[in-house]
Amino acid sequence: MIFLYVILLLVGLPIITIYISIAVGVPCLPTHKKQAKILIDLCEIKPGMKVVDLGSGHGRLVIMAAEKGASVSGYELNPLLVLFSRWLARKRGFSDRVKIYWRSLFAADIKDADVVIAFLFPRYMDRLKNGLLNDLKPGAKMVSYAFPIKGWQPIVHKEAISVYQKILTN
Ligand SMILES: C[S@@+](CC[C@H](N)C(=O)[O-])C[C@H]1O[C@@H](n2cnc3c(N)ncnc32)[C@H](O)[C@@H]1O
Repeated sequence: MIFLYVILLLVGLPIITIYISIAVGVPCLPTHKKQAKILIDLCEIKPGMKVVDLGSGHGRLVIMAAEKGASVSGYELNPLLVLFSRWLARKRGFSDRVKIYWRSLFAADIKDADVVIAFLFPRYMDRLKNGLLNDLKPGAKMVSYAFPIKGWQPIVHKEAISVYQKILTN
């Protein structure tokens, strides 16, 4: 009987995850490992920095940023991915520096962030550009994977990763 429950769980969880992704409108596709490494390197994260991943998914980028010594906030709507990435952060010993919010990324707090990361769809990027990203502090970096921000000039563009920086004021 327990075997049946395990099978149901193994089959059911991916189906639920895919269903939620369709409902949300952005697939829960983690950044490819090679690209993830390049992306994290381009972020130039130093210990103590604050990093936000908008749509943190399975938590791959969150964990990699934490490994660089950052305090990381992830915002994710899919409850299964929230639970999984919280578990992963605990397992990797980052509970004190990683926070995963089960909340819309449009309600994220990025005012103190040194780096904001997004791997989303173009319409999300447009909405972010015209809303939340106004909250970026001067000098903060915005890093987008796959879909650039229309009208913004990246300071670096490599392997479909665009790095933008909010202009420093005197
Ligand atoms: C393409 S995945 C990227 C995952 C992760 N950032 C990475 O690069 O490995 C996008 C994630 O955004 C999440 N998402 C989509 N819309 C969202 C919203 N409004 N608020 C929070 N998360 C959202 C999806 O559930 C999905 O897990």
